[in-house]
Amino acid sequence: MIGRILRFFRRPEAAILDARPGDAAALAALHRVSFRHGWSESEFERLLSDRAAVAHVARANGGRGPIVGFVLSHRVDHEAEILLVALAPGERGKGTATRILAKHLSRLAAAGVSRVFLEVDEGNAAARKLYARAGFSEVGRRKGYYRKPEGDAAALILARNLNG
Ligand SMILES: CC(C)(COP(=O)(O)OP(=O)(O)OC[C@H]1O[C@@H](n2cnc3c(N)ncnc32)[C@H](O)[C@@H]1OP(=O)(O)O)[C@@H](O)C(=O)NCCC(=O)NCCS
Repeated sequence: MIGRILRFFRRPEAAILDARPGDAAALAALHRVSFRHGWSESEFERLLSDRAAVAHVARANGGRGPIVGFVLSHRVDHEAEILLVALAPGERGKGTATRILAKHLSRLAAAGVSRVFLEVDEGNAAARKLYARAGFSEVGRRKGYYRKPEGDAAALILARNLNG
């Protein structure tokens, strides 16, 4: 009984939807809080209107709330590169990144993509765990790629195959 009451009051989980050019401002805001060098709204407008772009957003409260996460890829022929994945700090640790990535990968597969690449900072433990769980493995390493005051870090190049 108590479980049923709690379920009634719990907000629905975030819905995963196709991104639209009008989402650029929300994506720029999320990017600013997630990365050292934020990209501007106009940069996201340009990226989202590129026909090589494939992007999904997570909208809170079953799709009725604000954008709380996104993933953006660039697709060329049978290959794609995931450029960005980011979740609002308050949305992390709930499995939303796993769900948004799974939907994104299945959309890429349906569009004929058979191999996906991405680059990740070797020190980004949360992202590495997310990608490992999604089936990515290391295919290359760029030593000292990320320059940081606390010490340079390698960029790991990860990849996985998709079956159409
Ligand atoms: C990377 C990111 C998308 C992961 O999404 P998330 O929903 O926050 O993922 P979680 O918090 O569930 O973490 C994923 C896993 O990493 C673990 N993790 C989280 N933070 C960690 C840390 N600092 N050290 C070690 N492991 C960590 C979690 O425990 C979880 O593992 P589990 O499911 O086995 O418990 C999110 O952290 C984020 O937006 N980061 C900022 C932007 C970024 O770095 N993007 C990736 C590079 S493009």
